[in-house]
Amino acid sequence: MLQHATHTISGDGLWLTTEDGRRLLDAASGTFNLPLGYAHPHVVQAVQEQAGRLSHAPSGFTRNASERLGGRLLAHAPAGISRSWIRDATGSTANECAVKIAQKATGRRQVISFFLSHHGQTLATTAMSGNAFRRGSFPAAATAAEALVVPGAYCHRCFYAKSHPNCAVLCATRIEEFLEYASSGSVAALIVEPIQGNGGNAVPPPEFFHEIRRICDRHGIVLIADEVQTALGRTGHMFASEALGLRPDVITLAKGLGGIGLPIGAVLMREELDVLEPHEHSFTGGASILGLTAANAALDVLEEPGFLEQVRINGALLGEALKKLAAEHPCVSDVRGMGYMWGLELSHPDGSRDIPLTHRVIEVAEREFGLVLRGSRYGRGNVVKVRPALIATQDDLAEIVTRLGAALAAATGAGDGVAA
Ligand SMILES: Cc1ncc(COP(=O)(O)O)c(C=O)c1O
Repeated sequence: MLQHATHTISGDGLWLTTEDGRRLLDAASGTFNLPLGYAHPHVVQAVQEQAGRLSHAPSGFTRNASERLGGRLLAHAPAGISRSWIRDATGSTANECAVKIAQKATGRRQVISFFLSHHGQTLATTAMSGNAFRRGSFPAAATAAEALVVPGAYCHRCFYAKSHPNCAVLCATRIEEFLEYASSGSVAALIVEPIQGNGGNAVPPPEFFHEIRRICDRHGIVLIADEVQTALGRTGHMFASEALGLRPDVITLAKGLGGIGLPIGAVLMREELDVLEPHEHSFTGGASILGLTAANAALDVLEEPGFLEQVRINGALLGEALKKLAAEHPCVSDVRGMGYMWGLELSHPDGSRDIPLTHRVIEVAEREFGLVLRGSRYGRGNVVKVRPALIATQDDLAEIVTRLGAALAAATGAGDGVAA
């Protein structure tokens, strides 16, 4: 008889059981892509039933299903966003789709992105990366997307040393200087993460977003919100843009959209930006019927009355608990975030970034306290990210904070460079 090739690694809710049988409390929601934790029963059941009936059909036969999902997403989208394009399997290509839309609609070429931003790993999104090291090995990426990478708003280490009451506005205003002096003069789009994910959970204030909206309007630039990490309840709102005062023309999402980690991406846009033909952007594995099913089932849960409100309430409590932890551990120089998306910045007493300690805390948390966290290895390197699945209860969050506190104590007690 044929044997199924299954794996012994497993997960349920917030808990991941490794191949060697360790039970780990996951405070990072997998790869930030499990909004409902591991193996959420409602999503699993929907996907299992769908897989038994049909696991793939050509896109012509699944159009109604993807339009239904689009309609559900649009019902929550910020004002003015009324069209969807669901043909992607990843966030990288969803962002490429947004750039194609902007280029086709404006007839222009260049894309503005921010320092330390991450928009994906395809050639075009590599070119748009706010990390030089991601672009470094691929000099030809610049031919896939001509990007202009500019500084954003990173309030903890304010460019203006907080010397000006409107420093966040000034941060955005600098973009106009880049437009004038450094751009090709042919700028199609500006892409921004409402909360910079890989860049260290940086949360720009609403004034920054108001100002970039004004700049985009003034220069006819399409404003893209990359909500691959922030959409679908992560901030306690279906879209972070609304919560943070960002009014985008296009929104991209992926990651959590697949509910239990199935690959699916989506692009939402203003009506006048619905310019692509199917042959211009679609993929064999995009809008798969399994991905659509998982996304619809995840939305069923996220739309349950009170679900997101609870995330907002619990998220505020989580923020308070993390700030209390910071008060007890002087190495924590900043706590920032909202909902279930928090970052703790770790610094030396002189205020400089403590990257070795950050690595140590994350290692010790997992090895000694069974807590899975993520760092900002690809950002500034000194941010510990706490982003549990949205199903985490107040007791779960308290348990995460307790384990994190223990890891901070153990890692700081261990001394520089010495593993606890
Ligand atoms: C903000 C953001 N955009 C885009 C991407 C790329 O998504 P994917 O890995 O699904 O291609 C990521 C992945 O980490 C991301 O964090």
